[in-house]
Amino acid sequence: MALKSTNPTTTEAWKKLQAHFETIKSQHLKDMFSSDANRADELTLTWEDFYVDFSKNRVTKETVDLLIELANELDLKDAISKYFDGDIINATEGRAVLHTALRAPKDATVLVDGENVIPEVHEVKKKIEGFTNSVVSGEHKGHTGKAITDIVNIGIGGSDLGPAMVVDALQFYKNHLSTHFVSNVDGDHYQEVIKNLNPETTLFVIVSKTFTTQETLSNANSIRAWFLESQPKEAVASHFVAVSTNIESVKNFGIDEANIFPMKDWVGGRFSLWSAVGLSISLAVGYKHFESLLEGAHKMDEHFKTTDFNDNIPVISALLTVWYNNFFESESEAIIPYTQYLNQFATYLQQGIMESNGKSVDRDGKKVNYQTGTLIWGEPGTNSQHAFFQLIHQGTKLIPTDFIGYVESLYGNKDHHNKLMSNYFAQTEALMNGKTESEVLSELKEQSASDEEIKQLLAFKVFEGNKPTTSLLIQKLSPESLGKLIAMYEHKIFVQGIIWNIYSYDQFGVELGKQLAKSILKELTVDGIVGNHDTSTQNLISFFKDNC
Ligand code: F6P
Repeated sequence: MALKSTNPTTTEAWKKLQAHFETIKSQHLKDMFSSDANRADELTLTWEDFYVDFSKNRVTKETVDLLIELANELDLKDAISKYFDGDIINATEGRAVLHTALRAPKDATVLVDGENVIPEVHEVKKKIEGFTNSVVSGEHKGHTGKAITDIVNIGIGGSDLGPAMVVDALQFYKNHLSTHFVSNVDGDHYQEVIKNLNPETTLFVIVSKTFTTQETLSNANSIRAWFLESQPKEAVASHFVAVSTNIESVKNFGIDEANIFPMKDWVGGRFSLWSAVGLSISLAVGYKHFESLLEGAHKMDEHFKTTDFNDNIPVISALLTVWYNNFFESESEAIIPYTQYLNQFATYLQQGIMESNGKSVDRDGKKVNYQTGTLIWGEPGTNSQHAFFQLIHQGTKLIPTDFIGYVESLYGNKDHHNKLMSNYFAQTEALMNGKTESEVLSELKEQSASDEEIKQLLAFKVFEGNKPTTSLLIQKLSPESLGKLIAMYEHKIFVQGIIWNIYSYDQFGVELGKQLAKSILKELTVDGIVGNHDTSTQNLISFFKDNC
């Protein structure tokens, strides 16, 4: 069954939220805390090893109730059932959206066209497990009889960002294999990756759901040509494997059927790391850890599916985005993990969130008259404090920020971890409280500043505060807790799409540029072909051709 379609701004709850916003917009978080002793407790959710404190957001209990009323009026519950049950909720591509089935247990039943997909999911997992174990143990040998030492993942977008982020995030759990990622069609990228590799001990994993993506196929072809400069054709079988839905094209590329890890079209690229697309993750950290990652995600699926909206972490988190995006008119959200391991997390979520919800046509095909997808950005703390935090603290834009921190560090260096986390706590407090003129004044006086200096400096040293943050505290970074965290954001994306009445699972927006690039490539490579361009583009192409 199709998703329902309602313009959210026409709901009763939306109107109530608009009126409510007028009472909230000028309230300061500091005052909200001082007038309600229970605020922190009331606006904190704990679940498994997650402690999620929403209380430093510009909301009251009434705001949360109204946002939930909005979700109810838009029948979020019904949409969640359709999502998990395999309904065609990706209507514009005519597909179900079932990354959740990839982490469902063996005894689950999820029907697509009347057929339970779970047995096949577990068959592919078994194949991933068997292959991972043989490569990691050294049983799988390269063509010359040497064990594999290096893995190269060749893919782009969802076939790169998820695996790359997770391998980086779980490097503490890594085995002896070195893992590399080639994504950009920039030839210098693959050259830099292969320059120190030994083809005799390297395994290439070509990942492309469609197996038509220009970047991935160009990189795969160039890397295979480089490989064949030193190895015979028969060696391809033990050094190249592929992950795809397009089995025929993979075979045409020259990869044995036995070396193909299939995936289904109901797995969206940006939600595919749980499928065979995660093969590089499994190879890098071992199958057991890969499975724990999936188990963590499944636990979050259950939490999301079965918990009342009041206590539902992805639901509340998504509704807060709607609150800021559509009422406060804030345009972006920052994601700041206080762990270097999540260095690529914001980049990964940029695709997940912006490719999904960067839409301006609703589920009736009409142009929306309200804001949809937010801009996502971020870098780990404390590095980001020394880069862009100035703007979050004292700039003119309101930037709701997620702080992600861990109670335990992985190597257990308490001194460093306390320093790291003291920054995490300090930043959320500072963003909320700010610093008033009278506080700045007494501080300057304490520093014996002259009246002249005080006059000059006072305004610059004031922090308005009232900057919203959500604090996620997780016990420890593990494959399981990472699975939970990623799935939390996946479900947040879903909820936002339902509220905004858009289709979150297509990505037509990336097509136009791709088509134009194809025809311009002909102009760059075939003499005599001249395109019909605006003068700016024409001049740029001519300058490039004349000087290369
Ligand atoms: O950027 C568009 C996109 O279709 C993504 O959604 C996808 O993750 C990526 O290209 C790669 O596609 P494929 O896995 O088919 O090579």
